Amino acid sequence: MSVIRIEDIAHVRYGAPDLAAMRAFLEDFGMTCFEQDGRLYAKGSDGRPFLHVTEPGEARFLAIGFRAETLADLEALAAHVGAPVEELNEPGGGRIVRLTDPDGYRVEVVAGQARAEGSLSFADLPRNTAAARQRQRTAVRLDPGPSHVRRIGHAVLKVRDFRASEKWYKDRFGFLTSDEVEAARDVPVGAFMRCDRGDKPADHHTLFLAQLPGELGILHAAFEVANIDDLMLGHQHLKGRGRNAAWGVGRHIMGSQVFDYWKDPFGNELEHWTDGDLFTAKDPPQKMPMSALLAVQWGSPHPMFAGKLAPPPGLVAFLAALMLRLTRLFRRQTQGIPA
Ligand SMILES: [Fe+2]
Repeated sequence: MSVIRIEDIAHVRYGAPDLAAMRAFLEDFGMTCFEQDGRLYAKGSDGRPFLHVTEPGEARFLAIGFRAETLADLEALAAHVGAPVEELNEPGGGRIVRLTDPDGYRVEVVAGQARAEGSLSFADLPRNTAAARQRQRTAVRLDPGPSHVRRIGHAVLKVRDFRASEKWYKDRFGFLTSDEVEAARDVPVGAFMRCDRGDKPADHHTLFLAQLPGELGILHAAFEVANIDDLMLGHQHLKGRGRNAAWGVGRHIMGSQVFDYWKDPFGNELEHWTDGDLFTAKDPPQKMPMSALLAVQWGSPHPMFAGKLAPPPGLVAFLAALMLRLTRLFRRQTQGIPA
């Protein structure tokens, strides 16, 4: 039984030396930006006060925010971890409990933020398929421009010890595993985890913890757009504005989303996605091979696999498994436990 069951991801927070450059990118990406108290805030159309925060300073990832369902939940969490419940002096107000995870990431759990009425700023026309003629006597006419970001959906954090981080997040926030990813049998590299909303369907993943080689940090944060047309219009817009494409368009295997990844001016990766899987607490966890992580159901192959000299996915999984086994062996030896 976890301390609380969080409702959803609330925001991501970054530092950047040039708020104007960040703002220009986020507007091209399809968010509405405003400044308050020297910080840059960006929001979608779901009525939440902000989804993305930039503080002036060095370019880096600062924090991930989750939303507790009630203030009572926030108080229960605070009591459990021995941290205060503080006023959240940011747009929308509310209260906040600040935690630090096993890798030193700042985790901000918020509740009681004011929420405005959401708006559907992009028409969701019925679609005609070979089997179902749902749109009749009306034409598709799309306006060029940025995508319409609705909400934040998930973030991916690199961790040093997946099992330790998984336990930390599940114990406190009640995450459920949707897909655990293995480099080899019983050698997990991470898991796609969703919020436990009981019978209410939740996104396939809200948090992905990944024990992968290289420096710690956020791999990406992802934002839901209106639909596939909206995502493709956004792709054209970002391309036309000379922004840095990272990966896409394609359809993921785990989560099934149609995705499109871009880099902000400071190298942070942000994803547009639409049409993802939804599961309830009744749906059991699955195990998936690492090859499914970067493979696609259709669309652009991951840049790592796109070049002619890229290593085959099997070799990447083999090397990752080897690295994880060596890390564990080394950890056991340094802790004096026989391997
Ligand atoms: Fe993603």
